[in-house]
Amino acid sequence: MDDAAFFNGLEQTRGLVERRLVQLLPPDGQAPAGLIGAARYAVLAPGKRFRPMLAILVARDFGAIDGSAIDAACAFEMVHTASLILDDLPSMDDASLRRGVATTHRAFNEANAILAAVALLNRAFGVIADDAGLTDAIKVELMARLSECVGFRGLVAGQARDLDRRGKTLSNDEIDLLNHQKTGVLLVAPAQAGALIAGADGTRLAAIGEFARRLGLAFQIRDDILDAEGTASEGKDLGKDAGMPTLVTSLGLAGARQAMQGYLDAARDALAEARCGDHAWRYASALFGPRKVAA
Ligand code: IPE
Ligand code: IPE
Ligand code: MG
Ligand code: MG
Ligand code: MG
Repeated sequence: MDDAAFFNGLEQTRGLVERRLVQLLPPDGQAPAGLIGAARYAVLAPGKRFRPMLAILVARDFGAIDGSAIDAACAFEMVHTASLILDDLPSMDDASLRRGVATTHRAFNEANAILAAVALLNRAFGVIADDAGLTDAIKVELMARLSECVGFRGLVAGQARDLDRRGKTLSNDEIDLLNHQKTGVLLVAPAQAGALIAGADGTRLAAIGEFARRLGLAFQIRDDILDAEGTASEGKDLGKDAGMPTLVTSLGLAGARQAMQGYLDAARDALAEARCGDHAWRYASALFGPRKVAA
């Protein structure tokens, strides 16, 4: 498939995700307006939809029936959005802009933002539990993995490490662990969810997990480069990592770009072992190139 047809197809898939997210969020009147408003505002603001796209494209790459991963994909977008709401709070990164609009706590208030994040995290489990297209065994597996990627060994731990690093010097390995926990785990889980839904076996599941782990390390370096360069904002505050130990501060911009490319190349190598299609790779690698998959 040529590039134009491929990226056009991606935009359609992204549209499907966004319409399904609207359906999976609570209707007006089901909960207080400030809570529902904050949750909708945060989820439906224009994000890249990287995690759901990864779940859906990996499912496709492993031969799943079209549409079978969409609800699980949306669950990951809810978790990701919850992590962004929390990340932006005054007690964390104290950010004012996210996805091109005011951060959720600024547009609503801090209490509604925190409650919306908790509600979205919780709703993600409900979305998987309610997915009529999945077997009970797959649902339990997905929920266990979701729990693992959010919790004490996942993105919550990564965020705690992130807050703890201020003013410290970290080794590059420590930075990689931090980046994996705060960002990589939430790429590994959707990629493996897509493969699981498609019925992938353990070896191929491990390979796609390794692909996503390496992609996650590259993706956080990309994010840190954008933050340091201070030019292409992707609709969020810039310069938030000034003085923080990141691979940009330890390797410099050129070194960080090299490290990012190294992880990307390594991700593609892991994919070869997964013996699957290349939709996820074509999509994800484009996020790193001059051609942006639009947010
Ligand atoms: C931002 O993620 C947080 C990181 C893990 C770097 P994205 O860059 O995917 O943000 P959205 O979803 O497009 O807003
Ligand atoms: C990303 O860290 C990790 C998250 C879980 C949100 P950042 O703090 O660098 O993310 P941005 O740059 O605010 O999106
Ligand atoms: Mg942060
Ligand atoms: Mg931040
Ligand atoms: Mg950042």
